[in-house]
Amino acid sequence: MKIVLGADHAGYDLKEELKSILQQEGAEFLDVGTLNGEESVDYPDYAEAVARKVASGEFDRGVIVCGTGIGVAIAANKVKGIRAANCDNPVSARFSREHNDANVLTMGSRIIGSEVAKEILRVWLKAQFEGGRHAGRVDKISKIEERSGVS
Ligand code: RB5
Repeated sequence: MKIVLGADHAGYDLKEELKSILQQEGAEFLDVGTLNGEESVDYPDYAEAVARKVASGEFDRGVIVCGTGIGVAIAANKVKGIRAANCDNPVSARFSREHNDANVLTMGSRIIGSEVAKEILRVWLKAQFEGGRHAGRVDKISKIEERSGVS
């Protein structure tokens, strides 16, 4: 699986820690930054960079970290085809895949500890979309994008 990874300054340390999980799970990954540690940056820039690479099909899924996971989720969800889920527990992470076919995971480094974040990522990488009745609902989300004219 090809994963694109990003974070702002608040999420930088956790982003670095999550790489060990991606390696353990055999994922191929690209880090789009920030690469400048805790130097202040703007989270929408990294959220969009990750989201565009998933939306284009270049990467299968994306992972983005900021302080809360909220800002990057809001920004990523502005890109057509992106279903970003901000998860703070493994159950939400599993359902975000099984029911919502989430293709971007966001997490908040100021909200959860790194061990919880790692477990969320493990679960999220393994869980699969169930399709069936959920497929029609996800299609309806795409229709909302079409009516809104997002790109
Ligand atoms: C940065 O201070 C913080 O606002 C950002 O990491 C994120 O939490 C925004 O949603």
